[in-house]
Amino acid sequence: MRILVVGKGGREHALVWKLAQSPRVTRVFCAPGNAGTAGQAENVPIDSTPNDFDRLIRFAKKEKIGLVVIGPEEPLAHGLTDAMQAEGLRVFGPTKNAARLEASKVFAKNLMRQADVPTAEFRTFDHPQLARHYIESREYPLVVKADGLAAGKGVIVCSTKQEALQAIDRIMVQEEFGAAVGRQVVVEKRLEGQELSLFSLVSGRTILPLPPTQDHKAVYDGDQGPNTGGMGAYCPAPIATPELLQQIEEQILVPTVSAMKHARMSYRGLLFTGLMLTNQGPRVLEYNVRFGDPETQPLLMRLKSDLLDLLEAVVDERLGDIDESRIEWDPRPAVCVVLCSQGYPGPYVKGRVIQGLEEVARLPDVQVFHAGTRQEGGVVLTDGGRVLGVTALGETLADAKRRAYEAVARISFSGMHYRKDIADKALAVTPTPPVTSAPEGATS
Ligand code: AMP
Ligand code: GLY
Repeated sequence: MRILVVGKGGREHALVWKLAQSPRVTRVFCAPGNAGTAGQAENVPIDSTPNDFDRLIRFAKKEKIGLVVIGPEEPLAHGLTDAMQAEGLRVFGPTKNAARLEASKVFAKNLMRQADVPTAEFRTFDHPQLARHYIESREYPLVVKADGLAAGKGVIVCSTKQEALQAIDRIMVQEEFGAAVGRQVVVEKRLEGQELSLFSLVSGRTILPLPPTQDHKAVYDGDQGPNTGGMGAYCPAPIATPELLQQIEEQILVPTVSAMKHARMSYRGLLFTGLMLTNQGPRVLEYNVRFGDPETQPLLMRLKSDLLDLLEAVVDERLGDIDESRIEWDPRPAVCVVLCSQGYPGPYVKGRVIQGLEEVARLPDVQVFHAGTRQEGGVVLTDGGRVLGVTALGETLADAKRRAYEAVARISFSGMHYRKDIADKALAVTPTPPVTSAPEGATS
């Protein structure tokens, strides 16, 4: 089978890397890809804005693509799945309607309310003055969220009323994230706790949760500084005990997925539930309608089964036939450290030469997934804010962390920065014993 992966980040490189290992895959294309995807796939210079949809569809038909895997949220929100399906292509990724779970925070919060899914107390507004009155009346810290997609920047976590009022101004009055994105806002209670990223394969009513992961959103060590797309992740997340995962499945995943089905927006794809683990129990912060980045990198490092089998089962509505206990995961934990360009998450510099990649490629159980990179002549240059995800497996979480940072130490580019404390939160909570058990989920 020939596969087309749409996107150009670390997530897409991890998907390409894993799908290329499938014995059933003959060729992988990545549109537009990066210097890393070029190693296992053929990069195709087509972007995925709505203007590019026709070209992508023509390419997929000409190349007889058997499965299209859409990485990022924007093409999903703009209906790439629908457009491709209408042309007879097989696509992994939800339809435009179902993608509203991520593309509209107002839609997602209303669905949670209706389905009784635990989430932060909230109100939605389409006028700044009403939002301001509400903010003045609250006695707790708030989070203000622009309704639409804003590349992860439309969520403003506030400590004071003043900050929340400014957030309303930025989103609704200055329209900093665009007029449509800021037409409505969600104002919600700020929750305290650890965050958890839980990915599930979903097809109709069937839900198959994958091992839990944790991201590191803030740019600096100790969760300081502004939020980014994610500075590092590990899998599994020891904080997510089997009991907690059971509770999340019953109280959150099942009602969410059946509410979507009831609303005639049957979900088919990867559902990413972003949770806050509060003292009162797990609460949904948001849904994403795609694999998370960087979480997908350590997750797929651990997957031993064929990813194509799983994605096809979703697309063909055969997910219920997959025996969860037969999906094989490497029992070793994986840690991913993201290396960023100078200035990120603000305006950043591009075009810097990256050194050390060949040396790291020789390390066992280490993968460098490329994000913002491009190849020019014989050299790899930085080409985005998040540049590389260095991912390592280890006997313990501490060992995986040590091995990831040993690899990081061999890579350099001018202005490179990264967090030094990826996985420390989990290490402080649970000193993990060496892994001797069978793969998780396995019964024998
Ligand atoms: P994003 O994934 O870019 O939409 O960013 C959402 C991030 O904002 C989450 O990962 C949290 O770190 C933070 N956040 C969102 N909602 C809340 C909330 N109610 N309380 C505390 N932090 C929140
Ligand atoms: N790492 C969080 C996300 O992919 O949205």
